Amino acid sequence: MMSTFLTCVLAMILALCTGVSRGQCPEKCTCDQLVVRCTGQQLRIIPRPLTDANVLNLYNNSIASLPDDVFKGWQKLTELDLSRNMLSSLHDDRFKGLSNLETLDLTSNRIRNISRPAFRGLTKLRKL
Ligand SMILES: *[C@@H]1O[C@H](CO)[C@@H](O)[C@H](O)[C@H]1NC(C)=O
Ligand SMILES: *[C@@H]1O[C@H](CO)[C@@H](O)[C@H](O)[C@H]1NC(C)=O
Repeated sequence: MMSTFLTCVLAMILALCTGVSRGQCPEKCTCDQLVVRCTGQQLRIIPRPLTDANVLNLYNNSIASLPDDVFKGWQKLTELDLSRNMLSSLHDDRFKGLSNLETLDLTSNRIRNISRPAFRGLTKLRKL
């Protein structure tokens, strides 16, 4: 009896916590509806934005690499600004998961090596 009660309480707390974190703006970012801005914060890794974010602006940070599957599950994103970072190479499938991305800004990086399939999966891209 007691353990059932405890399980219920735990489940409720868990539901509350995940509910809150889903709607929370990432640290060092400002969020306005579905637009997430994390500019000039010396970020080294891509923050986890709101799951339904449309725009993610990472202008002027210190992002040097894009890990595998970092954008997995971000089907809602249409605009990604990675300009003025420290990216030096883009390996295969770097943007996998961004199936609705229309605009990708990679200006002012240090890109020397781009693998041909780096942009695979960006079927909606209109502006690079
Ligand atoms: C970039 O961000 C740094 C802080 O991290 C700031 O001092 C600098 O002025 C910014 N540069 C530009 C061009 O926005
Ligand atoms: C460029 O990247 C590919 C794989 O993405 C790697 O095999 C190759 O060695 C790299 N070339 C240089 C010059 O870094």
